[in-house]
Amino acid sequence: MYSDKVMDHFTNPRNVGEIENASGVGTVGNAKCGDIMRIYLDIDDNHVIRDVKFKTFGCGAAIATSSMATELVKGKTIEEALEVTNKAVMEALDGLPPVKIHCSLLAEEAIHAALWDYATKNNIEIKGLKKPKSDIHEDEE
Ligand code: FES
Repeated sequence: MYSDKVMDHFTNPRNVGEIENASGVGTVGNAKCGDIMRIYLDIDDNHVIRDVKFKTFGCGAAIATSSMATELVKGKTIEEALEVTNKAVMEALDGLPPVKIHCSLLAEEAIHAALWDYATKNNIEIKGLKKPKSDIHEDEE
């Protein structure tokens, strides 16, 4: 049911933890399944994501997508990180079963929420970034 990559990132997730005094923190949940994901970003003056950590209270696919999403945005600029969609995360994981697609949306939205927090704190506008939802479940149906 799950690809080797999903299993690898689930059993050995990368970038688990938190960042003290993070540049931006985003928390997103899905009221339907009850899963919650929090992403911490450390962003330098050149808008490059120096470090990223996550904490996910959720299913295996949510943990695997958080892990892969953090790997994909690490070292990227905030503009590049915005292009890391849930589809890109799923592709990098060699796919997810259809019932688990919403788990990858949680990762995309949590990154956007952390970027939004960063933009708000620094009084800047990130082109193309929309105000994130705290609950992604409305999007699914
Ligand atoms: Fe809800 Fe995976 S079942 S995030």
